[in-house]
Amino acid sequence: MSGKKKIGLFGLGCVGQGFYSLLTQANANLEIKKIVVKNPNKQRSVDQSLLSVSPEDILNDPEIDIVVELIDDSKFAFELLKKSLEKKKPLVTANKKMLAEHLEEIFWLQKRYNTPVLYEGAVCGSIPIIRNLEKHYAFDELHRVEGIFNGSTNYILTKMIEEKKDFASVLAEAQRLGFAESDPTLDVKGFDPKFKLAITMAHAFGIFIHPNQIVNIGVDKITEHDIRYARQQGCTIKLIAKAERVGDQIVGFVAPQFVPLESSLANIKNEYNAVSVTGASTGLQFLAGKGAGSLPTGLVVLSDVVAISQGDLYSYEKVRHADNLSFANEGLINICVSFREGEGIRPADFVEFIGGYQAGAFQSLNGWVSLKKLSNWSDRDSLSIIFNTGVNYKTTRSEKKQELTLV
Ligand SMILES: NC(=O)c1ccc[n+]([C@@H]2O[C@H](COP(=O)([O-])OP(=O)(O)OC[C@H]3O[C@@H](n4cnc5c(N)ncnc54)[C@H](OP(=O)(O)O)[C@@H]3O)[C@@H](O)[C@H]2O)c1
Repeated sequence: MSGKKKIGLFGLGCVGQGFYSLLTQANANLEIKKIVVKNPNKQRSVDQSLLSVSPEDILNDPEIDIVVELIDDSKFAFELLKKSLEKKKPLVTANKKMLAEHLEEIFWLQKRYNTPVLYEGAVCGSIPIIRNLEKHYAFDELHRVEGIFNGSTNYILTKMIEEKKDFASVLAEAQRLGFAESDPTLDVKGFDPKFKLAITMAHAFGIFIHPNQIVNIGVDKITEHDIRYARQQGCTIKLIAKAERVGDQIVGFVAPQFVPLESSLANIKNEYNAVSVTGASTGLQFLAGKGAGSLPTGLVVLSDVVAISQGDLYSYEKVRHADNLSFANEGLINICVSFREGEGIRPADFVEFIGGYQAGAFQSLNGWVSLKKLSNWSDRDSLSIIFNTGVNYKTTRSEKKQELTLV
């Protein structure tokens, strides 16, 4: 008997391979007993006797202590999570889509089976944000969490702005370099950072919000006209995920924003991610690093596995004290909408119109629009929407007029 904790690993792709190679080099009290993959015919550089295509080889093996789920199928991943917990096997995952869509249920399943799930790798890769929200900020009343939660879109925006490349060619370059998926929709349309934001909101503010409730606007409609306009204002453009407390409500969005060049977020470039946390006691703190990739994410998965093997679990401190908070689904947003002439967008469409700008065939209009209008406009391929810097949310609830600001 080696006395080592035995691991069952699902998935041996980008993150699975990173995790496997780090674990086999680490002097941790852990050992991989079985690896379940989908395609039995792929060439793999691991001991063949470890491989299987049957999930039961992990789930039904009483010797396996911990399950590590690193597959790219969120529906099946949720089935694996439920079965692992039923069998009282703690689970580590990096599957942000699965977590974001089922987090409240996963919270209750952990209680029901008295078995933990850890998932640091799901949010901003190597940046330790979830465990810091859980431990370091557990008793600080947080005002705001915001940041750059997606590396591929940050890479695309950096190249579009600094090297004047067009969206399609930078996307192809990012795919060649492995920063973007072959189907880039989840990244470029802002779904991936929205999943991460939904998970972050549970740990920062204690509320479970299904990602469908959060507005996400991607980077795929940003044009040279928007970039020129940003420069004229002394700004760059970043895809920002943001959640903020406004009174007893939480406001959350993923959208491109004009970010002043002197801001810390403006200097996070290429595939890097960053998160800033603002709390009542801690003030503003800033974390930056690699948000994805085989080794950065594999390392965080390994540290979760070590933590779970030592009995660590999330206490969800904020969930226990969040009774009065709700998610804001109405209010006004301060945006800049840009389009070619003939789109039919007029100053009267704004609740409060601020002003406009025209260059050639392009127009930009600035002002406050309702969340409903924003959501309708975000579905139109011909409109580029960028949140303005400074105050960019106002509640329309009459009893509490409060405002949200961008750092
Ligand atoms: N890539 C990153 O940088 C990153 C960062 C943070 C989080 N994540 C998350 O980590 C997870 C894994 O991502 P990845 O990039 O490593 O994916 P990937 O490279 O596409 O690899 C996916 C792996 O899952 C296996 N798989 C798929 N369906 C399966 C099934 N039904 N049963 C068993 N194995 C199955 C595949 O098996 P085959 O090898 O047989 O095809 C493959 O080994 C995803 O949830 C992703 O969102 C990724």
